[in-house]
Amino acid sequence: MIRKDQLELADRFLTLLGDRIGGGVALEQAERQLSVSTPQLRQLAELLGGWGYKVRESGGQLKLVEVGNFVNDFAIRHYLSTKVFGQKIHSYQSIGSTNTTAWQLAEERAVEGTVVVADRQTAGRGRLGRSWHSPPRVGLWFSLVLRPEIPPSEASGLSLLTALALAQSIQSHCRMEAKIKWPNDCQIAGKKAAGILTELSSELDRVNFIIVGVGLNVNQTKSDFPRPLRSKATSLAIETKQKWQRAEILALFLKEFEHFYLQFKKSGIAPFIQEIERRMALLGQKVTLAAGKDIIAGKVAGLAPDGALLLETKSGDYRAISGEVSVL
Ligand code: BTN
Repeated sequence: MIRKDQLELADRFLTLLGDRIGGGVALEQAERQLSVSTPQLRQLAELLGGWGYKVRESGGQLKLVEVGNFVNDFAIRHYLSTKVFGQKIHSYQSIGSTNTTAWQLAEERAVEGTVVVADRQTAGRGRLGRSWHSPPRVGLWFSLVLRPEIPPSEASGLSLLTALALAQSIQSHCRMEAKIKWPNDCQIAGKKAAGILTELSSELDRVNFIIVGVGLNVNQTKSDFPRPLRSKATSLAIETKQKWQRAEILALFLKEFEHFYLQFKKSGIAPFIQEIERRMALLGQKVTLAAGKDIIAGKVAGLAPDGALLLETKSGDYRAISGEVSVL
């Protein structure tokens, strides 16, 4: 068991090393700033090594030569600056589905903001009973336990809110435009970069808990996707031609989402509608909406204050609270 003070020291050591491959610090300076001896510093370097951060010592200098890109507790905490989300993190190398595990934990009273994250899912689930391809170490596959005191009918707003937080964190961190495809996909350059699976446990009039599951394609190359997905899916790495630190992106998303969520709990989705519309893919375009057995053709006119999709159809305006939109 690693002690909390060792974790904190390792965290500060990593910051001194500059967080990035090639970053470094003089041995003496590190000892002074962390108030540790040379053997203690070497122990910290070993600890970091176990989490994928390889530190090399040469000529009185310490250099970070490898960053493992893990999404474990240590790596996430290193970047995390939230108050509620991620205060409890369950990280796994391999798991069936983070949503399923988060659901079980929520039933066992897991606190609001608990995060379940896995390097790989063997039974990742998508919307409408589909499966979600979740290969090891390239994507972010995680779920969040939420306990808002809202009526069940308002829960769908959380999917939209998640999509908004994802789009904004991608755009500000990776500096490229990210769009929201109603109700809960995130698109870059017209292709799907992330999907959201929101699952609700409720009684008739109150929510017990909500699991928000996010699958974000981060470092996949084209060939990492199954052939049928290659024309429709993309990753941050494909679009930006560089690899990204997954734990950092998760921490940034949690920060953004927490900020929105605290307001959502007070005022619902309405204050976010304008911003979501501004980021909406397919606004003004002709689409078909598959909602249950119905297929409705129309032009996307925008969103209602509760997040429902508004379509202009030949027979008048249509309001959809769920469904799958395709471009005509
Ligand atoms: C979709 O677009 O159909 C939603 C995909 C959601 C996938 C994520 S990956 C993490 C979490 N665990 C799951 O089993 N699914 C969600």
